[in-house]
Amino acid sequence: EEAQAKRLRQPIVVVLGHVDHGKTTLLDKIRGTAVVRKEPGEMTQEVGASFVPSSVIEKLSEKLKKMLQVKLEIPGLLFIDTPGHEYFSNLRKRGGSIADIAILVVDINEGFQQQTFESIDILKGRKVPFLVAANKIDRIPGWKPFENEPFLETIGKQKKDVQNRLDNQVYDIVTQIAQAGLNADRFDRIKDFTKNVAIIPVSAKTGEGIPDLLALLAGLTQRFMKERLTFAEGPAKGVILEVKEDLGLGHTIDVILYDGILRKNDQIVLGGVNGIITTKIRGIFVPKPLQDMKLSKYDFTSIDEVYAAAGVKISAPGLEDALAGSPIYAVNSESNLKEIENKIEEE
Ligand code: GTP
Ligand code: MG
Repeated sequence: EEAQAKRLRQPIVVVLGHVDHGKTTLLDKIRGTAVVRKEPGEMTQEVGASFVPSSVIEKLSEKLKKMLQVKLEIPGLLFIDTPGHEYFSNLRKRGGSIADIAILVVDINEGFQQQTFESIDILKGRKVPFLVAANKIDRIPGWKPFENEPFLETIGKQKKDVQNRLDNQVYDIVTQIAQAGLNADRFDRIKDFTKNVAIIPVSAKTGEGIPDLLALLAGLTQRFMKERLTFAEGPAKGVILEVKEDLGLGHTIDVILYDGILRKNDQIVLGGVNGIITTKIRGIFVPKPLQDMKLSKYDFTSIDEVYAAAGVKISAPGLEDALAGSPIYAVNSESNLKEIENKIEEE
């Protein structure tokens, strides 16, 4: 085994916020931008998640040298969309969340709504640090769009009254975050990121502000979460996102791995509707590379092993009773099966 050295895995970034504030559009834009900027072979495919490699983040944030001075050691960022609160709740692990950091998406023109407040409560409950993406800046009256530019560039090109309008909206968000007991500010005015929630104005439509958002996510996680992100070379640990029946594969589970290595033929233990399921992996699958995506949604490639963090589909006998939101552990010869079963029962 060549990769025995300790290394950093990609932080898991979960996106949440009020309905229609732009979570999915923002992720689509990030993914689209990444696809355009990648070199061949840089992109790995994911199930239930999107991976953006560090090389792409570095390219996008070239103009933001001040923000991202360091060369990135993390391999990239792994993004997960959450169509609702329950979905986020399913991403749990013992005493917390598999999310290393979250993006709370807020429509800058509408400000906080009920689910925005609920999202903050959930994040605080699970102790997940977060940034605020103040989305839809392109809809601020008078805004002149500059496609895919960093916020720090495009804001300087806006008229004074437009800049003021944006800042008034940002200030509203600061006030609303204060109601939740937290300090916040526009990201470029923050000195201590451990004490303030950073607000990054973005447009999921024009791509403005996305370089700043990615640079900040990568910079902050690498700087403050090294220990949490240090990769353990043990058997895989993950959480079940969804249980599905896939054409030709039978019952499968979509899983986010947050630790360890998963190998074909591994024994796995997971939670089921009728109790714990112990089974053996038949196949690990990822979607075919993006250029082939048109073909069919059932188009998966089988892989032999995968390192955390990653989103994969697993086929194995007995998965029809698997339970979304349950932990999944791979087992090796040194693992204590009883101990793992107890862990799953506690969760
Ligand atoms: P749910 O998953 O239903 O909670 O919504 P969501 O948060 O994923 O929002 P979604 O991405 O579906 O966007 C909702 C609507 O807002 C869509 O019509 C988007 O095109 C639009 N939208 C999202 N981001 C922007 C933006 O930055 N600018 C503009 N002008 N429209 C946006
Ligand atoms: Mg959505």
